[in-house]
Amino acid sequence: VALTACGGGFEAPAEGSAENTGGAGAPEAETVFKVAFNQNADQPEAVAMTNLGEHLAERTDGRYTLEVFPNETLGAQKDTVELVQAGTVDFALVAGSLLENFNPDFVALNLPYVYDSQEHQEAVLNDPEITGDLYTSIEDQNIRVLGGFSAGTRSVYNSSHPIEKPEDLSGLKIRVMESDTNTRMLELMGGTGTPMGQGEVYTAIQSGVLDGGENNESIYSNLKHDEVAPYYSYTKHLMIPDLLITSPEIFDSMSEEDRAVFLEELQAAFEESSELTATVMTESQAAAEEAGAEFNEPDIAPFREAVKPLLDEKLTTDTAKDLYDKVRAAAE
Ligand code: GCU
Repeated sequence: VALTACGGGFEAPAEGSAENTGGAGAPEAETVFKVAFNQNADQPEAVAMTNLGEHLAERTDGRYTLEVFPNETLGAQKDTVELVQAGTVDFALVAGSLLENFNPDFVALNLPYVYDSQEHQEAVLNDPEITGDLYTSIEDQNIRVLGGFSAGTRSVYNSSHPIEKPEDLSGLKIRVMESDTNTRMLELMGGTGTPMGQGEVYTAIQSGVLDGGENNESIYSNLKHDEVAPYYSYTKHLMIPDLLITSPEIFDSMSEEDRAVFLEELQAAFEESSELTATVMTESQAAAEEAGAEFNEPDIAPFREAVKPLLDEKLTTDTAKDLYDKVRAAAE
């Protein structure tokens, strides 16, 4: 998308500017920040980040823009965290779970049934009173969190039968995201959790290495997991945020003014993505049904009960407990 309207007029990209090698799709700017993303370019977060890039270019007179690299082109989420740390990639959208590997306190944002609704989650994620300290807590490891997107509600799906109660998960290998919390969660829910990057899941189910996965309706339909695991059961056990990470060095290389513009536009991106998310989930469910998937609504009370031990097991520091309490308090 070439930028047409440009208030102050654009300077030509610096001669031989190494950064400005973004493919078609990125507006021109002196610095094109790379954003790693593991889903396709039509997903709400990608759309919102792409628009953020355009607004950033306009409002910084062409000093900065963003280019989103979707579909794990820069690597699976776990790899992209490392690329951000190394300064090779400027930004990445990663599931909150992955940051537990850098500071276990992140778990408070990622526990099963911790949020009552998307509104509750969004109120928590971008309230500096709640998440401010957490988001800057791993700067010594070269990671700064700038904020979080709601990424829908996750439920289990598998290739053999609808899940009505925890016992129905017995003997099933379900892919989970790469954090110990998720593996343990799936075990408590009655099955076996197998950590894996998102891109490998389809083939793993198809070949029988896995029986299923757990994700929102959009990923389920988009990555065509409905073809290989047609039973989607609304356990609604997780709402894992996608956090936007960068390195302090990269972010602080912008002037204070440009950073302020970025953060302001980021708030707008959260709102845009939020609105798109609800629609995308409904449309994805319909698309999956069309493709032959069967959805069922189990009673979630037994699942909620089953995962309760995770709270004591995972909230092991005062900071994590305090954070969890703040998250819950925001629900009221
Ligand atoms: C969702 C989520 C991603 C996450 C993915 C996964 O798509 O938004 O951040 O990586 O699920 O299950 O790996």
